[in-house]
Amino acid sequence: MKELKWWQKTNVYQVYPKSFLDTTGSGTGDLNGVTEKLDYLKTLGVGAIWLTPVYPSPMVDNGYDIADFTGIDPSYGTMADMERLIAEGKRRGIRMVMDLVYNHSSNQHPWFIDSASSRDSEHSDWYIWRDAKPDGSAPTNWRSIFGGSAWTWCEARQQYYLHTFAEAQPDLNWENPKVRQALYDAANFWLDKGVGGFRIDAIVYIKKPAEFVDGEPDSDDGMVNIHSMIANTPGILDFLHEFKEKVFEGHDIFTVAEANGIEPEDLDKWVGDQGVFDMLFEFSHMNLEFPHGELWSQATGYTPDIIPRLKKVLSASQQATAKNGWYPIFFENHDQMRCVKHYFPATADRKRAAKAMAASLMTLRGTPFIYEGQELGLDNVAWGAIEDYNDISSHGQYELALAEGRTADEAMEIVHRYSRDNARTPMQWTKGKNAGFSAGTPWLPVHEDYRWQCVESEAMEDDSVLSFYRQLAALRHTGEAAGVLQQGDYTELLQEDPSIMAFKRHFGCREVYTLVNFSGQEQDYKLPELAGAKLLAESVADSSQGSLRPYEAVIYIKETGEHL
Ligand code: NOJ
Repeated sequence: MKELKWWQKTNVYQVYPKSFLDTTGSGTGDLNGVTEKLDYLKTLGVGAIWLTPVYPSPMVDNGYDIADFTGIDPSYGTMADMERLIAEGKRRGIRMVMDLVYNHSSNQHPWFIDSASSRDSEHSDWYIWRDAKPDGSAPTNWRSIFGGSAWTWCEARQQYYLHTFAEAQPDLNWENPKVRQALYDAANFWLDKGVGGFRIDAIVYIKKPAEFVDGEPDSDDGMVNIHSMIANTPGILDFLHEFKEKVFEGHDIFTVAEANGIEPEDLDKWVGDQGVFDMLFEFSHMNLEFPHGELWSQATGYTPDIIPRLKKVLSASQQATAKNGWYPIFFENHDQMRCVKHYFPATADRKRAAKAMAASLMTLRGTPFIYEGQELGLDNVAWGAIEDYNDISSHGQYELALAEGRTADEAMEIVHRYSRDNARTPMQWTKGKNAGFSAGTPWLPVHEDYRWQCVESEAMEDDSVLSFYRQLAALRHTGEAAGVLQQGDYTELLQEDPSIMAFKRHFGCREVYTLVNFSGQEQDYKLPELAGAKLLAESVADSSQGSLRPYEAVIYIKETGEHL
């Protein structure tokens, strides 16, 4: 077995800086706020922080629309603040991971402003420009991921430009070697600053097909989701190998790419020694309610059969990454609803649900990614009107739901479930004003539950979600289970059980067992191998072997006596 790398043995914490901690009273979080909380993050076994984009940005998509790939947005602080964060992190064994958003830039990036100014400009072919169809309409019927056409007309050039996401996020032309080199230079700038890795955004879209053709409409708007037309276009790996060679190779960092739709049989081309990245965020367990890229209005909502399906896809991912690469375990990020609502009915006990996910996150094989607030068990929000929502995709999907014939109330219900703002409400630190997030007016409302669900309260309670996370983080890093949890292989157990997710990790002469009841009923199970095992952690006091109470999770360890 290969010696594990530092990032395979640690926990990663995702910070959404805008919502983490505001040290100036501006209402938005900042880099100094992250520095201030490094010691807190250490208590969660964190060795790396994935920072969502902090570069200069008009913030149409909260920083995923970048106007300068090597700067810091003034709302987050200065480059000196960033350097201090990197240095203070290093002192504590926490490395910063930058988000590389290289499929597109902001339409306010100087490259785009120049490109859009005329067909003869210096950056003319740095973006994807096409003539209109003979009738003047957009070159294809592709729908952008946020809704509406993926093409926007430019008067100065008398051409359309392509944007996989918002109009304000024009796609870069990776066919142009100068574009690629400029992006590699920007990534190397951050390596020189001492960052510990990269999360690479929306990478599956960088290569476009040779010919742009209309697709079969998938909704009443006559359009087709652009994902199905451009994702993972053959030839993409040539770009990515060049990226690896010119940037990642030879550095003690990790890379994790956001890669929706890579099939397990293609994994070896993407990750591991022969591949490009260390890890891939794939979304088979996130997209259970819209497996084929359906609109939010076409999604199924929570149904109990989500559990066997979740079990199946997680097990498949565990097995696929056992052969190639390494698995980034995650159940939340800034684009997803809170996991206590995702995999549990609305009536579920939230504390138990949050702990059930904690037990899964911290004992599956791979590197756990904790998203800010997940360690407190934060819940979704449900605001009254679409105007209350900041998330650009919520607005787009709301309009699409209305266009599909939903009433305004129905469309709002859909937004309540799927809005990305669910995960973007300010972090809850204290019982005080604005949950201790800001002395000013928070850019998004603080969740109404903050008085009982905040770090201050949960740190005092032995049975809180936070205390459970801390307990599990310690298990992963020190003590008798650490080796198994870091290195052990994975075997699914109770495969046919529709409610219990169970698996065994095994390394050397030890086994660790995790059992999680995702249902609201007590469930009995038979697992003779558990005889002689010792309880390591339980989400509810006084658990008993052989049965699980509603939403209960337990973790056992067993000495096998033989060194396998
Ligand atoms: C994926 C990011 O996670 C999301 O927040 C963003 O809106 C899109 N990529 C576009 O960059």
